[in-house]
Amino acid sequence: MITFEKNKEIDLSMKNLLLSMFEVNEYLSSILDYNEKFLSTENEKELMHILKKYNIPYNNLKYDSKILTDNPYYKNIKLENVHFGNVRYEKTTIKKRTLMSMNFHNPLGKYLFHYHPIGHFETDVDLPALKEDDKVWMSPAVSEIESMRDGIDKGHGKCLTMGLGIGVLPYLWLLKDEVESVTIVEFNKDIINLFDTYIRPQFKIDKKLKIIHGDAFDYYREDFLSQFDYIYVDFWESTEDGLDFYTKLMEKKVDISNIDYWIEDSILYDVKYIVALYLFAVYEGKSILDFISSIDEDFKAIAKKINKYFKTRNDIIKTEDELLNIIHSKEILKKILSI
Ligand SMILES: C[S@@+](CC[C@H](N)C(=O)[O-])C[C@H]1O[C@@H](n2cnc3c(N)ncnc32)[C@H](O)[C@@H]1O
Repeated sequence: MITFEKNKEIDLSMKNLLLSMFEVNEYLSSILDYNEKFLSTENEKELMHILKKYNIPYNNLKYDSKILTDNPYYKNIKLENVHFGNVRYEKTTIKKRTLMSMNFHNPLGKYLFHYHPIGHFETDVDLPALKEDDKVWMSPAVSEIESMRDGIDKGHGKCLTMGLGIGVLPYLWLLKDEVESVTIVEFNKDIINLFDTYIRPQFKIDKKLKIIHGDAFDYYREDFLSQFDYIYVDFWESTEDGLDFYTKLMEKKVDISNIDYWIEDSILYDVKYIVALYLFAVYEGKSILDFISSIDEDFKAIAKKINKYFKTRNDIIKTEDELLNIIHSKEILKKILSI
């Protein structure tokens, strides 16, 4: 079982970790009232004040709409109001000066504080959204494209993605000289039909684009994945369903390194929080059973995995670096989820 040396450095570090978690919640609730609403000049000043208080970097909350309209997908792929079964594209309008997230989370500082970059456009901007009933699967919004940036940049050779959506990532990959072909695993036939009818004909790129109608979980196997040079998994809606799906993938213990997962860092932040609380309970000598029962029902299974993992370790943590290296290690977090 992991243990701690009681010293001032660890003491302070534990306190700072807990404080950073508290501050995230405080920060998020203080900006909640502004989100997805019209931002008056007065509100903008108040918001700047909040960002300053939490040392969140910003130049200006105004984003140039070119960040969207210059994107090749936005420029070249036109979608009317069309539908297939229960999925449809719908024109949505981002009203000018509406405050919104422009990306998923950014860590700030060495503990657990993090924030979503926020901003607004000075003019109304139209964009199509892919909806299934009331669920919005995908739109070429700034936060969607920015959060896939790493996946777009890393694409090369034979690429595979799980989750078709509106094909933004496949399109941006196909435009790259380094990309030879794109394969997609998608389980909703309506989304495939919609794509084949309205989007694929607009791609106009002479490279192989193959869609496999199937469930991502059935294809998440080494013998299938090893055929590709780069893989990007993107079949969840947000961090909420993402953690569950990501955990199920980790449980399959696939040993492949050329693979990335949409909003992986944001998904793992939830796990980091529970790891930090668990290590604090161990440090304080509290009962692990009490700790597990104090965790929200949705995260109990994760808390149990965390306990199983740390019971297998026999090291003594003596410094802040050792503590933070555990909390921020993607390798450890993935190992915990794979249990
Ligand atoms: C967020 S969208 C993907 C967006 C895509 N990266 C893009 O660039 O447009 C998620 C997609 O995953 C699909 N999906 C959800 N669960 C799936 C599963 N288990 N297997 C395969 N596809 C799935 C949904 O139907 C949806 O088309």
